Amino acid sequence: MKLVDTHCHLDNEQFDLDRLEVINKIKEKLEFCVNIGYDLKSSEESLKLAKEYDFIYAVIGIHPIDIAQYNDTLEKQLEEMAKDSNVVAIGEIGLDYHWMTEPKEVQEERFRKQLELARRVNKPVVIHTRDAMEDTVRILKEYPDLNGVIHCYPGSIETAKVLIDRFYLGIGGTLTFKNAKKTVEVVKGIPLDRIVIETDSPYLTPIPFRGKRNEPIYVEHIAQKIATIKELTLEEVVRITTENAKKLYRIG
Ligand code: NI
Repeated sequence: MKLVDTHCHLDNEQFDLDRLEVINKIKEKLEFCVNIGYDLKSSEESLKLAKEYDFIYAVIGIHPIDIAQYNDTLEKQLEEMAKDSNVVAIGEIGLDYHWMTEPKEVQEERFRKQLELARRVNKPVVIHTRDAMEDTVRILKEYPDLNGVIHCYPGSIETAKVLIDRFYLGIGGTLTFKNAKKTVEVVKGIPLDRIVIETDSPYLTPIPFRGKRNEPIYVEHIAQKIATIKELTLEEVVRITTENAKKLYRIG
């Protein structure tokens, strides 16, 4: 069994020069990867990639930073696309109070609309939350039938324990950074069967490649770090996190 990258952005322009090469490495080294949309264009690109390669799946949705473009027409387009079997979740959606491109109320209203969309198409959700954990938890509590993943989990161990009832925690390259104390504590305190591995590539490159472009095959370095923290073998981490990824996205 091989690892999975549960969150990447292969349509990003940073892959324009060697995308095929990067995809070939994924085919060789990973079980599969999931390409995540953040606006309409990237959602369409995600679906296109997923249709072209059987080891790539798509997630579509509008990120809180890009939420200004959200309207009824766009929602209908998303909903049509979401019915495709290559689309395994709605995301990344959520709240971002760090960049705040739209006021909190607007972000919340459109976050809720996309949660309802996920409910209608019966798919899990990929949640982005930055400096907004309290509101994110409050809103998600109102959708007890939805499950999914908290992407690049930024919260405390206490909040993690509440969320893992219904959500996987996405752990990425930041776990390998020197100042990752909080994330290390989360990985230590949460059962491995609630953790999925993600790169968020081309962003958040793990050590030893920090400063360079990230790519999906670097999940290995995150898995290795999890194995060290949890005192498990790399094989155990691969097996369990890949099973988690399949359950999260209802694959296989
Ligand atoms: Ni992302």
